[in-house]
Amino acid sequence: MNNKYKRHLVTAALPYANGAVHIGHLAGVYIPADIYTRYLRMRKEDVRFICGSDEHGVPITIKAKENNCTPQEIVDKYHLIIKDSFERLGISFDIYSRTSSETHHKTASAFFKKLYNQGSFIEKESEQYYDVEANHFLADRYIIGTCPKCKAENAYGDQCEQCGSTLSPNELLNPRSTLSGNSPIKKKTSHWYLPLDKYEPWLKEWILEGHKEWKTNVYGQCKSWLDGGLQPRAVSRDLDWGVPVPVEGAQGKVLYVWFDAPIGYISNSIELMPNEWEQWWKSEETKMVHFIGKDNIVFHCIVFPAMLKAYGDGFILPENVPANEFLNLEGDKISTSRNWAVWLHEYLDEFPGKEDVLRYVLCANAPETKDNDFTWKDFQTRNNSELVGIFGNFVNRAVVLTHKYFAGEVPSAVKTTAQDQEVLDQIPLIKKNIENSLESFRFREALKEAMNLARLGNKYLAETEPWKIAKTDMERVASILNTSLKICANLAIAFEPFMPHTTHKLRFIMNMKNSNWEEFGNPDILRAGHKINEASLLFAKVEDNEIEFQMEKLNKTKLANSQEANQNSESEEPTTQTLLPLKDECTYDQFMKMDIRTATVLEAERVPKTDKLLKLTIDTGIDTRTIVSGIAEFYKPKEMVGKQICVLANLAPRKIRGIESNGMILMASEENGKMRIVTPEERLNNGSTIS
Ligand code: MF3
Ligand code: ZN
Repeated sequence: MNNKYKRHLVTAALPYANGAVHIGHLAGVYIPADIYTRYLRMRKEDVRFICGSDEHGVPITIKAKENNCTPQEIVDKYHLIIKDSFERLGISFDIYSRTSSETHHKTASAFFKKLYNQGSFIEKESEQYYDVEANHFLADRYIIGTCPKCKAENAYGDQCEQCGSTLSPNELLNPRSTLSGNSPIKKKTSHWYLPLDKYEPWLKEWILEGHKEWKTNVYGQCKSWLDGGLQPRAVSRDLDWGVPVPVEGAQGKVLYVWFDAPIGYISNSIELMPNEWEQWWKSEETKMVHFIGKDNIVFHCIVFPAMLKAYGDGFILPENVPANEFLNLEGDKISTSRNWAVWLHEYLDEFPGKEDVLRYVLCANAPETKDNDFTWKDFQTRNNSELVGIFGNFVNRAVVLTHKYFAGEVPSAVKTTAQDQEVLDQIPLIKKNIENSLESFRFREALKEAMNLARLGNKYLAETEPWKIAKTDMERVASILNTSLKICANLAIAFEPFMPHTTHKLRFIMNMKNSNWEEFGNPDILRAGHKINEASLLFAKVEDNEIEFQMEKLNKTKLANSQEANQNSESEEPTTQTLLPLKDECTYDQFMKMDIRTATVLEAERVPKTDKLLKLTIDTGIDTRTIVSGIAEFYKPKEMVGKQICVLANLAPRKIRGIESNGMILMASEENGKMRIVTPEERLNNGSTIS
């Protein structure tokens, strides 16, 4: 560890509260940030991990309009979903607050006021696009048009999603208002600007000379901005949602979301540590690291540092900004508006107990140096062959054999060989490699090293074959298991930053107390005679049907999107119905295995904190049971009570949100996503079979 610093302030980009969190966010920002912080905590460093929802900005107001509700209702809804899903994944923030909080409004307001009072801004009148019909200025995402760079048709006023260019509304060709679709007029308005050009020489020195060690993608983007020359940047907007500009005569103006959001790191620190926050933000002994995605680089490396510099008063700057590139999904760009994503809260419902599998796969495949692709097939392979096949298999064999031959006690190493020593000698080397990788933000590499320890153990057991030697040489078996159990104990430490749920289980099996990084590689990590607990499986296989289910979900999204595109296109051609392709053939016997019956819903309630799930109590004629079903979007709990339904009654039970679900309700779904329950034409006795 670098001893120059006494404290570590780790921030993760504040997600916009206009949608849920998806795998792109996780792989890019939150999983690496969490691994880093957990590692620092294990090293007994003083760490604070800061995050919260970004609740201002145009996308939120647009979403509110679309949903006929207030922006506050939108952010309230998504803040809870995001916060809850992060918690369930084990992202270990010290605080997850929000920018609509009073503390934030006060802090951001005071920040602006100080810069205003000391004359750090330029006030400028200019002509901005304006929608006469909607009576609204059109900044950022209120305006779309053709991208001047790549000619994509629906580029936003602040950014083209197609080519990633940062834009300003004036650059758009053929601009249109997203409020009315009309062509806008220009109208005079006055705003405050931060003169970034004034900070250019200082930024060049600080980044281009002082931070050559930053990741190439980050350094490169900064260099290209700085070489291109910086312009004054507006920090206010004509909007009614945001932090009001705290200046007389500024009615109807709020702080630009990218001005207030990064101040959120400060306000959330204040909320977390009302008395000590200054020690964290204004001390050269604090190492601040911002975890972000590549579209946030300019704001975190150029704009926010310029704001902090302008503020003065000892505010520190980030020591590093390890931004990642983007993750694609099955070959296509992830998109919230096109619903092309794997949503964290849905994943957690659909793969209960597999939180760490997602953490593992997204870290192993993180877009650290270039954009990367997530595929369900790869997810399945990594789980089944790496986690189940290597890590889980090794631990399970070592533990089971210890119970079989030594009544669950760590045997002593009485008859060691050079091979044992060679294996044990690897551990400190692996440890060092993990440390080096983590400290330089190479998380994929770090995880690979940790996995090498599991591989090492697995190979060692396969080669030494203690189950064969047991017939002739118990002393040798004792030594082999001693070595193997030591590897297991080290795995419980090595994997803790990456897969905390798994190491929690593993520590229980190994009967280890807390995991302390210092213990990693200690030759005496497990003493002979130490009692371990029974084996339990660390990982379970991901079956083909689980992957097919996910692929089908994505296919439905594709179909819905293409139909929408068809409807929106002005072509005269009749739109052809696109249906899901026929599934692979199944046999009569396979079908007859399914026990499908009529049943009646007795009770129905929403599963708390979910959008889609209802908990139903049903009478199947044979029994009364609970089923959790994803129909809340289509049926209110009240509507379901008393309905006759059809249910697959012999489906293996699954835990969904901690509730055991026994069976599946048959639903008919249209390609556009609409769903209806399937029910017999006439009410029949409950328990009638369907074939
Ligand atoms: N909400 C932004 C995004 O999702 C990130 C804001 S980071 C902060 O891209 F620093 F501004 F808070
Ligand atoms: Zn473009």
